[in-house]
Amino acid sequence: MKLLVTGGAGFIGSNFIRHMLGVQDEVHIVNLDSLSYAGNLENLSDLSSDPRYTFIRGDITSAQDVEKCFSQGIEAVINFAAETHVDRSILDASVFVRTNIEGTYVLLEACRRRKVSRFIQISTDEVYGSLDETGKFTEESPLAPNSPYAASKAAADLLTRAYHKTYGMDVIVTRCSNNYGTHQFPEKLIPLMILNALENKTLPVYGDGLQRRDWIHVKDHCSALQSVLMEGQPGRVYNIGSDQEKQNLEMVHEILRILKKPPELIEFVTDRPGHDRRYAIDASRLKRELGWKPKIRLEEGLAQTVRWYQENAEWVSRVRSGAYFEYYEQMYEKRDQTLKNS
Ligand code: NAD
Ligand code: TYD
Repeated sequence: MKLLVTGGAGFIGSNFIRHMLGVQDEVHIVNLDSLSYAGNLENLSDLSSDPRYTFIRGDITSAQDVEKCFSQGIEAVINFAAETHVDRSILDASVFVRTNIEGTYVLLEACRRRKVSRFIQISTDEVYGSLDETGKFTEESPLAPNSPYAASKAAADLLTRAYHKTYGMDVIVTRCSNNYGTHQFPEKLIPLMILNALENKTLPVYGDGLQRRDWIHVKDHCSALQSVLMEGQPGRVYNIGSDQEKQNLEMVHEILRILKKPPELIEFVTDRPGHDRRYAIDASRLKRELGWKPKIRLEEGLAQTVRWYQENAEWVSRVRSGAYFEYYEQMYEKRDQTLKNS
């Protein structure tokens, strides 16, 4: 199968590409990624010589860039490419609207024209909004996004649904809970707290820290996506989660415990505007219909993740400084110049 993965240089996309090439021999993956601040080719450097893997630098909002990929005979598309950080979306929503909504539209249109057999939109539980103390989000829960990020993802979900209803396209939307694991850009809760603790910096906890998230290891998310890609029903939405709900403060204390750092590093800071109080995912449809099961317990997965960040200080310093981005920027400029001159 020839698969187009967009956003494959990011956290989940890079884990997914490695997962798929590890479990399937008969797959070729084209990775289309614009290498935004969150995209890092170093995440996939071990695959650069694998003949089943091709990287194309490009933007999902550009029909031309997308066409360049489709001309390689793509059979299915998985759209990970997105702006993903809620705090950034609060400061400036424009790029979220562009990438998350317009980019999804450009991909859907290309799939329609090219009659691509399957389109998977990687969405998030944040489209459902916030829960009270009890209950879980099911696929029938109403969409009630509270941040510009979540609203842009919900808009893309609806557009994807419309392409199924209107044009009969084979599309699937997945909505996963908060991921953790290796290669996550250190602006999200888990890597940020690990790195601050390692450097004896304060750990900024928003508000009272009693917000709850439902944590899933990125490898379990990837195995769920493999099941959806292979066996999912067209037009269906699948929730993905692993029933591991924790308060933010509990997560931060656990990281400090693993690293043997004092709780005095915690600093309560001004809350995020529109901060969702609780997310919890009911993934029973995916388990029942496709037989998927998560494998990684939070305690074990979190300890492994902490260890990975401890052992990969160079990766951290390069993604933080943007050094890799500049390196590739120069490399691509040089390549484009050579192409122009030839
Ligand atoms: P990430 O921020 O780590 O990576 C996003 C990737 O998309 C980067 O490689 C970036 O360069 C690329 N990208 C951004 N704009 C682009 C554009 N216009 N064209 C091409 N590439 C572009 O994100 P992530 O955490 O890996 O999330 C991947 C997907 O999963 C997103 O769609 C996100 O909404 C969804 N999701 C994330 C989580 C989570 O906890 N991280 C949970 C559920 C769903
Ligand atoms: P985040 O990793 O940004 O994911 P999301 O907002 O998509 O759930 O944040 C997870 C939770 O941690 C969320 O409730 C906000 C909180 N948080 C902090 O308390 N401090 C921080 O510095 C960050 C980045 C997040």
